[in-house]
Amino acid sequence: MKTLMTIAEVRENVKEWKKQGLTVGLVPTMGYLHKGHKSLIEKAHEENDKVVVSIFVNPIQFGVNEDLDAYPRDLENDSKLCEGAGVDIIFHPQATEMYFEDFCTYTDMEKLTHNLCGMSRPTHFRGVCTVVNKLFNIVAPDKAYFGQKDAQQLAVIKRMVRDLNIDTEIIGCPIVREDDGLAVSSRNTYLSAEERKVSVVLSKALQEGRKMLENGEKNAAVVVNAIKAIIEKEPLAKIDYVKIVDSEILEDVETVEKNVLVAMAVYVGKTRLIDNITFEI
Ligand code: PAJ
Repeated sequence: MKTLMTIAEVRENVKEWKKQGLTVGLVPTMGYLHKGHKSLIEKAHEENDKVVVSIFVNPIQFGVNEDLDAYPRDLENDSKLCEGAGVDIIFHPQATEMYFEDFCTYTDMEKLTHNLCGMSRPTHFRGVCTVVNKLFNIVAPDKAYFGQKDAQQLAVIKRMVRDLNIDTEIIGCPIVREDDGLAVSSRNTYLSAEERKVSVVLSKALQEGRKMLENGEKNAAVVVNAIKAIIEKEPLAKIDYVKIVDSEILEDVETVEKNVLVAMAVYVGKTRLIDNITFEI
């Protein structure tokens, strides 16, 4: 496994692979890798001859008051996980390698990015689309792997690839959870022991929502309110949003009559956690 810090070196390696007719899978990450990331890497390993994992805490997807500086980093541990999972290249650029001082070209999306996490993070998806588009231009992967954990991000990336004719297939991967149901996340390390216990309420509430939908409840507001009521019982939890949206266009639905995403962002203490389920009709 190689760890490369420059775009030129990554391109050189990928060019050599392509000359040999080998396929390339890309797993974009911000590092501090855990079993959620590992599941993406393993899938990429199964489906491609070569696997590139990018580890880059992308400054332009963080808002001014967000956790860019505090975002956890551990390259040594990440390297071990990657090596064990059969990764060929870790691409770990400095911010200056990715963004010229006078960088001024962004990939922006007019739909899908304003609802859900876009409501409280208005510039987030512009940052995500821009960096992922750049990574696709650098690695030119046949396939790229994204987790359903960030359901809005997955839908946005699929739309970007469709709209911009990017020659990469986007593979969505299921949410990996802890034994008690909490979705695994690098941000879970921010939680105190007490907050960690409380955090299970996100997945518990979503499961209750799923039961209601399975039992035939079609009124989205009724399900959303039931989910909110469960979360609001926890004094340490503060809801950012709970919504039921159309799975593809991510717009609110009043009546559940096609595939929906039930998504939430909840602060537990100061840590903002997200989770979701899909409900298919
Ligand atoms: P990061 O939060 O590091 O996540 C990298 C990928 O791992 C994302 O596709 C995310 O959905 C997936 N992932 C995280 N936790 C998961 C879990 N519990 N189960 C399954 N998949 C999980 O998402 C980003 O980085 C960035 O926005 C990025 C796409 C790299 C652009 O900077």
